[in-house]
Amino acid sequence: MSSHQRTIPASNIAASLGATLSEIGAAARVEDVVNILRRPLPRLDLGMFTLDPDGYVRHLLHRDERFEALIIGWLPGQFSEIHDHGGAECAFRVLRGMAVERRYESVHDSLAREVSRDVYLPGSVVACVDDDIHSMGADADASDPLFTLHVYRPEPVMRVYQLAAGVKR
Ligand SMILES: [Fe+2]
Repeated sequence: MSSHQRTIPASNIAASLGATLSEIGAAARVEDVVNILRRPLPRLDLGMFTLDPDGYVRHLLHRDERFEALIIGWLPGQFSEIHDHGGAECAFRVLRGMAVERRYESVHDSLAREVSRDVYLPGSVVACVDDDIHSMGADADASDPLFTLHVYRPEPVMRVYQLAAGVKR
């Protein structure tokens, strides 16, 4: 599914998260990012984060040489492509709605098959590391849109996979 990137007005969450991420050192691990995402967040007006029937929308909050942080808005049924993170570490927090994460294993070259599926409630913080291959988004039957907050370290170069033939999605 395609995605769009939108710029957003300056916000308290971007300022707060940017300052926090700037404070932690270059040796920060994904556990440090998880701990930051578990902290209480500034009051957040999700109304400024748009949704689009043509694809999920990425809103960049912060980018420096070590971190990229963004909020993604998903309508029910919208999922990312199956991807890895090129060795970059990442973590996300569910802000509103229910997130579905499908995890895959590579079966051949860029083909992958699903090995597990999890559903995360608001407040959940999930880390992805190393060679994780996954797809995430909002269940097609969900009644509400999904908003998730993601932090990548460093900015990822993702590889996209195709679902292996004959494997039920
Ligand atoms: Fe991902």
